[in-house]
Amino acid sequence: MTDPARRFPPYERHVFICMNERPADNPRGDCVRKGAPQVLERFKALVDELKLKPRMRAQKCGCLDTCEFGVSVVVYPEAVWYRNVTVADVDEIVHSHLIAGIPVERLRQHPAPRQ
Ligand code: FES
Repeated sequence: MTDPARRFPPYERHVFICMNERPADNPRGDCVRKGAPQVLERFKALVDELKLKPRMRAQKCGCLDTCEFGVSVVVYPEAVWYRNVTVADVDEIVHSHLIAGIPVERLRQHPAPRQ
């Protein structure tokens, strides 16, 4: 049974890291081959170390369909998309965006205008 006192949505910030994997010869490539496992591991480690649980969560997800910009990461509720994220970028995203609320502009993938 659901605890009626539980917050909803349950997270102040929710991070999704693409962990999709394709055959090596697939022209679209994938985020796993570009280092997504290390990125995911660092996000999870920092969420633990900085005691951000249960307010924040980082988890793997399937293809975000921005494969050419992988490793792809998206942070909600702001729906800020990050491109080409490396393990070296994770600390900055966590401290600046997750904790201070300031997205990391140099890594952002801005949406194209809708037609
Ligand atoms: S494989 Fe990661 S966005 Fe598609």
